[in-house]
Formats: sequence, structure tokens, C-alpha cells
Amino acid sequence: MNYKRGIVFVVIVAVVGWFGYSMMQTKRDDDRFRDLVKSQQQRKSSEAESSALLEATKVTAPPSDMLVNLIPGNVWFVGKYEDGGGVEIPFRPGESPQKTDDITPHHENPGFVGPEQCQECHREKYQSFLATGHYKTCRPVNELTIDGIFDSGGNRFQTSDPNVSFEMIQQGDEFLQRAHFFDWSFDVPMEIIMGSSKMAQTYLYWHRDGLYQHNVTHITDGDQWINSPGYIDGDAAYARPIPQRCLDCHMTYFDFRGEKNHYTPGSLIMGVTCERCHGPAKDHVDFHRDNRDALEAVGITNPAELERQLQMDICGQCHGGSRELKGDALSFRPGDPLEEHYYPPDEEADAKNSVHTSNQLNRLSQSECFRQSQMTCIDCHDPHHNERGNEVLFSSRCMNCHESESDCGYYPHEGVNFAENCVDCHMPRRSTEKLRLESVQGDVFPPLRDHYIRVDQAATERFLNGSEDDD
Ligand code: HEC
Ligand code: HEC
Ligand code: HEC
Ligand code: HEC
Ligand code: HEC
Ligand code: HEC
Ligand code: HEC
Repeated sequence: MNYKRGIVFVVIVAVVGWFGYSMMQTKRDDDRFRDLVKSQQQRKSSEAESSALLEATKVTAPPSDMLVNLIPGNVWFVGKYEDGGGVEIPFRPGESPQKTDDITPHHENPGFVGPEQCQECHREKYQSFLATGHYKTCRPVNELTIDGIFDSGGNRFQTSDPNVSFEMIQQGDEFLQRAHFFDWSFDVPMEIIMGSSKMAQTYLYWHRDGLYQHNVTHITDGDQWINSPGYIDGDAAYARPIPQRCLDCHMTYFDFRGEKNHYTPGSLIMGVTCERCHGPAKDHVDFHRDNRDALEAVGITNPAELERQLQMDICGQCHGGSRELKGDALSFRPGDPLEEHYYPPDEEADAKNSVHTSNQLNRLSQSECFRQSQMTCIDCHDPHHNERGNEVLFSSRCMNCHESESDCGYYPHEGVNFAENCVDCHMPRRSTEKLRLESVQGDVFPPLRDHYIRVDQAATERFLNGSEDDD
């Protein structure tokens, strides 16, 4: 990796997010990268300087036949003179990432307390919520939360470059990725998981107060290690910063330090939890702890009491396509209109390289179900329970409005159990280029349900032929 690509990287990641980024990695980028490596090689002179810095540290520094450069953005580049691949890390080669001990927040927490605080009074909701994708979408790494194989046999990920490979290693309670670049290697701790494992888990770590993404991601389908989406096969890239919009969709609270990927360690409330839909709850919790007899809720929003569009807008923070923040992250409060805090999604970006979620808000709004009723997301989704994959349950939700299966103009049709599956024909899964995950094993396209509910003859045919996905 080198510096111009580093800059392109930061900008793009900030704009399009995770899967989205993968679409930007075109062949042209590869060529440009090679040119830049060449120009790095011509700048051999600065190598002496960098090596001098390295000698001060006693850990395994890269061997002397490697090119070591500090490039703008405080990123270290390690490469071979004769080879195109490279290592990019935000910590000095030969050292380990160091978490800062400066834990003083830069902002006052506006009252986010975390889901554990709800348990004493809303036990049932809290318990069932722990099984949801929202809760699990971001968690600390430990033995119970991490996927993937850490024993020899399954813990090695070989890139297409024979000199670049990775080992996933467990040491007691700690997990790390060891990157091998020719005869040099270095370790990066796996600290935070992103993704509930429906499709994948990707991993983050701290260096100082910066959050960065690991090179290797785990993909649930086939239990495989792959290059993180958008990473170039044959590089070992550990310097991709995690911008606040990424956390805005996957976390409940974080103290942003005003720059790129800088946050206050210890401030994070991970996962999409209660307060992203109900508002910061400190006042609510304090009041009810002091007034145990009060039966009427104080200081909290019940979305069901908001007007329809404002209910939808709560979900739209994260399910409305590639919207960018207008101001500070986490300033949205349930009851606010979405457009006060987010720009409309960039349709062109969505078409080419959207964030890795479809715009359910927009797709649903086009449906006759939506236009001719007061439907909201909650007609089909209960945010307090894990209902993933339960097609019978979802079909029963259709039946709340479409009194019986005979409402379907296709009923009865031989061999189809209508009552148990309205969705495969009317809300088929679509896997599009927009959701491409690259891996050395080939591209993977995680399919998502199309929320534009309608009569879809092609989906019906695929369903009858037993092939569900549109690809
Ligand atoms: C000390 C007890 C207590 C704690 C702690 C508590 N609540 Fe409540 N909450 C109540 C009471 C009492 C009500 C009113 C009765 C009801 O609806 O259950 C309520 C109601 C609610 C409602 C419904 C509001 C309405 O207008 O219908 C929501 C939403 C809610 N709480 C969310 C939370 C969240 C989120 C947390 C944790 C961050 C939390 N509560 C923590 C006591 C508590
Ligand atoms: C606009 C909101 C948004 C942004 C920004 C965003 N994500 Fe996501 N992410 C989602 C949603 C929503 C899903 C689930 C896909 C779906 O069901 O629509 C998801 C899915 C994922 C998954 C797979 C989860 C699984 O269970 O398989 C991972 C991993 C992930 N995101 C990581 C990231 C990272 C890393 C970033 C930042 C670089 C990021 N996301 C930015 C909303 C977002
Ligand atoms: C993804 C958004 C979302 C999350 C996360 C969420 N809720 Fe809710 N909650 C809603 C919506 C929407 C409603 C209104 C519709 C309904 O009743 O289901 C609601 C209703 C409620 C109510 C009042 C209705 C009732 O059944 O008593 C309480 C209490 C509540 N939530 C507590 C919680 C708690 C506690 C958590 C976290 C453990 C939580 N919620 C997480 C969206 C959410
Ligand atoms: C702060 C961001 C955020 C908000 C607000 C939010 N979601 Fe999500 N939602 C996500 C992310 C991220 C995922 C992906 C979780 C994963 O698999 O890692 C997700 C996943 C889901 C899923 C798939 C669950 C599964 O396990 O398959 C549903 C359904 C969903 N959200 C519905 C809603 C609804 C309805 C609302 C509004 C009441 C809402 N979400 C509000 C971020 C959000
Ligand atoms: C909140 C009520 C409601 C729910 C829930 C609901 N629908 Fe509808 N749906 C309607 C209304 C109203 C119409 C328009 C009048 C009609 O065709 O019956 C409609 C129309 C349709 C149509 C015809 C669309 C067209 O373009 O003509 C289909 C297909 C359909 N719904 C399927 C479903 C399926 C499948 C589900 C469950 C995943 C579902 N609906 C859930 C209210 C609903
Ligand atoms: C008419 C019913 C219906 C409505 C209304 C609805 N959904 Fe869904 N949604 C579904 C079904 C069915 C699935 C597939 C669930 C599964 O298989 O786990 C789904 C899946 C999802 C997923 C998981 C990603 C995927 O495609 O598998 C997300 C995220 C989601 N819905 C968000 C929303 C949001 C946000 C809204 C409101 C804008 C909404 N949904 C409204 C029926 C609905
Ligand atoms: C095997 C695929 C399939 C399944 C399963 C299915 N549908 Fe349909 N549905 C269709 C087709 C095809 C049509 C268009 C029929 C026509 O030519 O009018 C349709 C039409 C409809 C319509 C529009 C009204 C009409 O007559 O045009 C509604 C509403 C509907 N379906 C609801 C449902 C509900 C609710 C379920 C689950 C109980 C369901 N469908 C299950 C394929 C399916």
C-alpha cells in the first residue's frame, strides 16, 4: 500500500462504508498502485531515515531488504523493492499497536446509558433483545462471540501471493491476526467484532485513540477467512480507519474526537440498542429509580406514539441507503425528521457502490401495501425479538391485512404451501453487484429481501423451480 492509495482509501471509506468500498477497487486502481510502488522504489534514500528510527526499537523490525516508509496520514508502508505487494500499518513496524491511556471524553454524554440499565425494569424485553442482530452487530471479541477456526488446519489464510499469508491465533483469552510478509511477520490484536454473523464478521482494533479494520474477515457461509471487502488480495492492510458513519449504524454511542477515526476508548456502547430507537434514557432511568410507584413513563419515547413517517425515520437512520450525516453523529432523536440529520441518499452512489444494506425505507414506500394502508416497519418486525428466517411468522404478518391466503391471485396453486411462505414470491432475496464481497475463492453476493412488495412473476418462477435467489 502506498500513500496516494491511502488517501483515496480514507475518503472513499468515509463516503460509502464497508461493502460499498469494494466496488471502488477497480483494475485501474491496481495499475495505479503498481506505478506508485515504482515511484516509492525510486525514493530509496528515505529508507535509511526510516531504518534509523526503527533501530531505536528492539522488537522484530522488518529485515533490511525491505523498504520502510512513513507516508502521509501517519501510516507506515513496508514493501519489497522488487515486488508489488505491501504492508500498511498505523503503528511503527517492529512495534505493536498501543491503546492510549487518555480516556477523558471530549464531549458530554447526552444521556446514553446502555441496555444493561433497562434490565431491572424491562427484564423480558432485555432478555429477548440479546438474541437480535441489532444487539449482536457490534461486540467485544471473546471466546463466545468470535467465529472462525483458530486451530492449525483452519486458521491460515493464504492470499494469491505465496509470500503473503495470515494466521488467526488464540492466546488464552486473546485473539490476534499474524500477518506474514516474506520472512517478516507482525501481530495485530482482534478487539471488536462488527457484524452479527448473518453474513460475516469483520474485526477492529485500537491504536492510540484510532479504530482500524483488520485485513482478514470471517464469512459465515462455508466458515471461511477472506480478505476484508475491498482489500486487495496480496496486501496486508491494517491501516483502514473506521469513520464515524460506520459506527453510527452499528453502535449506540461513542465519543468522537473530531477527526476521522478517533474515539475515546471506554466510551463505546456497542450494538444497535434500545436508546437508538427510544432516545437517551438517563432521565427515564433516574426518574423511575427514584419513583418506584410511578406507572406512567417519564423521559422516554415510545415510537408507536409518533406519526407514521417519524416512526419510519427512526429505522431510516440506518436502513435508508447511503445517507451522509449533516452534522454530528448521534444527534438524531426519535421524533426528529430524518432529513434534519441526514442528506438524502446519493442514488448514483447507491446504484454503483451503496453501503451494504438495501434502502428498505425507500423500497417499501413504493409498495401498494404501504401506499394503501398505514403500514410501518413494525407491522412485520418486532425489534425486541430475533425473528430471523422465520418465514411462517412473517407470512402471518401479511395475513394481518390480507385476511386469507385466498387473497393471493395465485391461490390455489398446486404444490405451494401458501400459508407458510408469502415472502419468497413477493419479497424475493436479491443479490446484486452492489453487495459484492470479494474473496480469493471468488465473489460472494449476500442476498437481501427486496422490500418493494409486488407481484413478481420471475420470482414466482424461481420459487417454483426451487431456486430462490435472484442472481
Ligand atoms: C427503574 C425502572 C426503569 C428502568 C431502569 C427503565 N425503565 Fe423504562 N419504564 C419504566 C416504567 C415504570 C415505565 C412505564 C410502564 C411501562 O410502560 O412499562 C417504563 C416505560 C418505558 C417505555 C414505554 C414508554 C411509553 O411511553 O409507553 C420505554 C420505551 C422504556 N421504558 C424504555 C426503557 C429503556 C430503553 C430503558 C433502559 C435504558 C428503561 N426503560 C429503563 C421503568 C423503568
Ligand atoms: C447506513 C448504515 C450503515 C453503514 C454506514 C455501515 N453499515 Fe454495516 N450494515 C448495515 C446494515 C443495515 C447491515 C445489515 C444488512 C441488511 O440487513 O440490510 C450491515 C451489515 C454489516 C456487516 C455484516 C453483518 C452480518 O451479520 O453479516 C458487517 C460486517 C458490517 N455491516 C460492517 C460495517 C463496517 C465495518 C462499516 C463501516 C466501514 C459499516 N458496516 C457501515 C448498516 C450500515
Ligand atoms: C430497532 C428499534 C428498537 C430497539 C433497538 C428497541 N426498541 Fe423498544 N420499541 C421500538 C418500537 C418501534 C416500539 C413500539 C412498537 C412496539 O410496541 O413494538 C417499541 C416499544 C417499546 C416499549 C413499550 C411497548 C411495550 O411493549 O411495553 C418498551 C417498554 C420498549 N420498547 C423497551 C425497549 C428496551 C428495554 C429495549 C432494549 C433492551 C428496546 N426497547 C429496544 C423499537 C425499538
Ligand atoms: C442505529 C442503526 C439502526 C437502526 C436505528 C435500526 N437498525 Fe435495523 N439493523 C442495523 C444493522 C447494523 C443491522 C445488521 C445487524 C447484523 O446482522 O450485523 C440491522 C438489522 C436489521 C434487521 C435484520 C435482523 C436479522 O437479524 O436478520 C431488521 C429486520 C432490522 N434491522 C429492522 C429495523 C427496524 C424495523 C428498525 C426501526 C424500528 C431498525 N432496524 C432500526 C442498524 C439499525
Ligand atoms: C398493513 C397492511 C398490510 C400488510 C401487513 C401487508 N399488506 Fe399487502 N397490501 C395491503 C394493501 C392495502 C394492498 C393494496 C390493496 C390490495 O391489493 O389488497 C396490498 C397489496 C398487496 C399486493 C398487490 C401489489 C400490487 O402491486 O398490486 C401484494 C402482492 C401484497 N400486498 C403482498 C403482501 C405480502 C406478501 C405481505 C407480507 C410480506 C403483505 N402484503 C403485507 C396491505 C398490507
Ligand atoms: C410486509 C412486511 C415487512 C415490512 C413492512 C418490512 N419488512 Fe423488513 N423484512 C420482511 C421480511 C419477510 C424479511 C426477511 C426476514 C428473514 O428472512 O429473516 C425482512 C428483512 C429485513 C431486513 C434484513 C435484511 C434482509 O433483507 O434479510 C431488514 C434490515 C429489514 N427487513 C428492514 C426493514 C425496515 C427498515 C422496514 C421499514 C422501512 C421493513 N423492514 C419493513 C418483511 C417486512
Ligand atoms: C408461488 C408464489 C406465490 C406465493 C407463495 C404467494 N403468492 Fe401472492 N401472488 C403470486 C402471483 C404470481 C400473483 C399474481 C396473480 C395474478 O396473475 O393475478 C400474486 C398475487 C397476489 C396479490 C395481489 C392480488 C391479486 O390477486 O392480484 C396479493 C395481495 C397476494 N398475492 C398476497 C399473497 C399472500 C398474502 C401470500 C401468502 C399467504 C402469497 N401471496 C403467496 C405468487 C405467489
